[in-house]
Amino acid sequence: MRFFLLSAALGLLATSNALTWQQPFGHNLFGSFFGLPGQDAEYDYVIVGGGLAGLVAAERLAENGTFSVAVVEAGSFYEFSNSNKSQIPWYSESSVAPTLDGYVNKMIDWDLITEPQPQLNNRQIHYAQGKCLGGSSARNQMIYDRGSKGSYDLWAKQVGDHSFKWDNILPFFKRSMHFNPPNVGLRGANATPSYDLGAYSPDGGPLQISYPNFAMPFGVYGVPAMRAAGFPQAKGFSNGELHGVDHNPFSIDPVHQLRSSSEATFLDYAITNGLPLTVYPMTQAMRILFNGTCATGVRVHSSGMDWSVRARKEVILSAGVFHSPQLLMVSGVGPASTLRGHNISVVKDLPGVGQNMHDSCAIGGVMHKTNITNPAITQAVMNDYINNGTGILTNSGGDVLAFEKLPPAFRSKLSNTTLEALSQWPEDWPDMEFLPLNRGGPTDAAGAEVSMLMVATISRGNMTIRSRSMLDKPLINTNWLLDPADQELAVQAYRRAREIWTYFPATGVDVGEEQAPGANVTTDAQLLEYIKEQGVSAIHHGSSTNMMGRADEAMAVVDSHGKVFGLQGLRVIDSSSFRFTPPGHTQATTCELLLSLVWDLQGLYVLT
Ligand SMILES: Cc1cc2nc3c(=O)[nH]c(=O)nc-3n(C[C@H](O)[C@H](O)[C@H](O)COP(=O)(O)OP(=O)(O)OC[C@H]3O[C@@H](n4cnc5c(N)ncnc54)[C@H](O)[C@@H]3O)c2cc1C
Ligand SMILES: *[C@@H]1O[C@H](CO)[C@@H](O)[C@H](O)[C@H]1NC(C)=O
Ligand SMILES: *[C@@H]1O[C@H](CO)[C@@H](O)[C@H](O)[C@H]1NC(C)=O
Ligand SMILES: *[C@@H]1O[C@H](CO)[C@@H](O)[C@H](O)[C@H]1NC(C)=O
Ligand SMILES: *[C@@H]1O[C@H](CO)[C@@H](O)[C@H](O)[C@H]1NC(C)=O
Ligand SMILES: *[C@@H]1O[C@H](CO)[C@@H](O)[C@H](O)[C@H]1NC(C)=O
Ligand SMILES: *[C@@H]1O[C@H](CO)[C@@H](O)[C@H](O)[C@H]1NC(C)=O
Ligand SMILES: *[C@@H]1O[C@H](CO)[C@@H](O)[C@H](O)[C@H]1NC(C)=O
Ligand SMILES: *[C@@H]1O[C@H](CO)[C@@H](O)[C@H](O)[C@H]1NC(C)=O
Ligand SMILES: *[C@@H]1O[C@H](CO)[C@@H](O)[C@H](O)[C@H]1NC(C)=O
Repeated sequence: MRFFLLSAALGLLATSNALTWQQPFGHNLFGSFFGLPGQDAEYDYVIVGGGLAGLVAAERLAENGTFSVAVVEAGSFYEFSNSNKSQIPWYSESSVAPTLDGYVNKMIDWDLITEPQPQLNNRQIHYAQGKCLGGSSARNQMIYDRGSKGSYDLWAKQVGDHSFKWDNILPFFKRSMHFNPPNVGLRGANATPSYDLGAYSPDGGPLQISYPNFAMPFGVYGVPAMRAAGFPQAKGFSNGELHGVDHNPFSIDPVHQLRSSSEATFLDYAITNGLPLTVYPMTQAMRILFNGTCATGVRVHSSGMDWSVRARKEVILSAGVFHSPQLLMVSGVGPASTLRGHNISVVKDLPGVGQNMHDSCAIGGVMHKTNITNPAITQAVMNDYINNGTGILTNSGGDVLAFEKLPPAFRSKLSNTTLEALSQWPEDWPDMEFLPLNRGGPTDAAGAEVSMLMVATISRGNMTIRSRSMLDKPLINTNWLLDPADQELAVQAYRRAREIWTYFPATGVDVGEEQAPGANVTTDAQLLEYIKEQGVSAIHHGSSTNMMGRADEAMAVVDSHGKVFGLQGLRVIDSSSFRFTPPGHTQATTCELLLSLVWDLQGLYVLT
């Protein structure tokens, strides 16, 4: 354990190489992996944004050995900027701040807030986005799942590229991550997850996928209750089948139970193995440099210095769902009228930049007081975590997922227009995700919740620029629940959640009165009002603000290889380039998928 304590103290634990750990990130001259601020430089590839997609791309490109790669990242190491709170799973929710007055650590988060949303009674809602090496993979709740088979097949069909079909992408899902079966003995009774080993490869990595060495007490009752409510037993949510209930896997390392972000895995691997990679931390990309329509590099900014990082081959954008389109726009790529309104000279008129934002959203939950509580976070609990990698700190708080298309009793209440809208999604694409949650303490007054995420949303959001400077935050309209179809489904989901609660007493839970929305909230109109006023918040699965599509689609921004239409030397490979947000959670789809398809499936590692 000595090496672990030492490296944890440095905040630089190499999860995948813990047993061979010597120096932070395994290298004597650690500083050599960082670019010199203020000095122009040139690399083969310049990657903008060292988040999830960005660091995976950097490692995969550098692994070739023949290319020099630079990563420009606005944030720093989250271990420096957020102590151990970004590493310990239990604290993953801290500083996500769903309410406007909540605490946000601006050293690791962009502190974005939506515009007032009229359909949500003009509420403005925080939208967390990681600002650090690891990006939102260093901010997320670490739930690991993949979309449904049908969702990727639909993606393939819509963009006209069979590469995105489930059968073709499964090898790439397998390649990026290493699956570690649960330590059943450490998780307590009745908390054994199911999983499908066929969804994983023993050679995959460096991302570590495992299970917390502690199962949340309320979740343990959630599985049988939801089974009784009609959810089938799922098998780990990674085999292309989502419908059903199960304890889910997480991006957590199995030995020390620390967050397995892209920084702790892909970046660590690259530096430990001395790959040709140069990172510019605390450096913000301000503008893409063009020679005509060919991207040649980026102009960057840090601490009063401005300089150029040039790309011999390509500039690759991975600045996330809001900042990738923002960077395109301030650089002259986007809706021409918007750009002219800010006196930005147009390099390429692409009306789809910033449009088509697709996102899941949280709509709150039905809450009851129960007699199921959590252990207190004591010094002994902390010691147990540090010394043994066990206890509640290993869990991010919600560890059971349940997906379904609403049963007929609820779906039959939807209007034909809504059913028609929902029919754009395939059979295996669930309407809703339910999570049995209780993040309270031992004297739990807060109660437990059947919480809900909408994963088949119809509404589309947008973003645009406030000014021509990257130093100003983008303007964001998530438009959650704007479409009446989403509103109708949300109301029926609440009715379904109330029904699910009726299955808890038989599992051994003492269910008290409904605390929220409350017994007086009964009509559809009252439920909808409650959801608008108190239910909706971000679950941070935004995508498609640089939507992938076919060349003949006016609103498509990138082709199925991530190349920006009408330009050369410029690609987008992050969540902004998704065709849509697949059901479930988005980190697995962001990690490796796009760039692997771009490079490997064509049988080459050459970007042409
Ligand atoms: C709070 C939260 C919880 C989530 N929970 C889950 C979950 O449990 N499971 C799951 O599967 N998914 C979850 N997600 C979603 C998942 O983490 C994201 O979909 C994924 O990280 C997106 O990857 P990305 O590469 O597109 O962007 P990011 O990972 O956000 O990376 C973008 C990077 O670009 C940097 N950047 C931005 N602008 C600039 C600039 N101008 N110059 C330089 N750098 C810049 C940012 O600092 C950041 O590091 C969650 C997300 C959040 C925010
Ligand atoms: C590196 O990329 C080149 C193409 O530029 C390719 O021919 C070669 O096989 C790649 N090498 C490795 C180890 O991936
Ligand atoms: C710009 O591109 C043109 C045409 O490819 C080339 O001749 C010229 O040298 C380039 N200019 C710079 C500054 O790279
Ligand atoms: C654009 O430029 C014009 C002429 O220089 C100036 O009057 C106007 O204020 C500028 N607009 C913006 C948004 O900067
Ligand atoms: C996390 O770091 C803080 C100091 O910032 C320390 O007090 C605490 O004990 C650490 N937590 C654990 C589990 O080690
Ligand atoms: C760690 O585990 C050992 C053996 O399982 C146990 O004896 C010890 O109490 C645990 N440590 C802590 C701090 O709980
Ligand atoms: C809705 O669709 C069903 C089946 O197509 C049809 O029978 C019914 O009349 C429709 N209802 C309305 C109100 O249009
Ligand atoms: C974004 O969507 C909102 C709501 O539909 C709309 O009012 C606004 O004009 C849109 N903004 C942009 C830039 O498209
Ligand atoms: C909760 O209450 C039920 C019903 O009274 C009881 O059977 C069960 O043992 C209690 N569980 C806990 C953990 O206290
Ligand atoms: C239900 O009761 C609560 C608490 O008294 C109150 O705040 C709320 O407005 C009521 N809701 C409705 C729809 O009556």
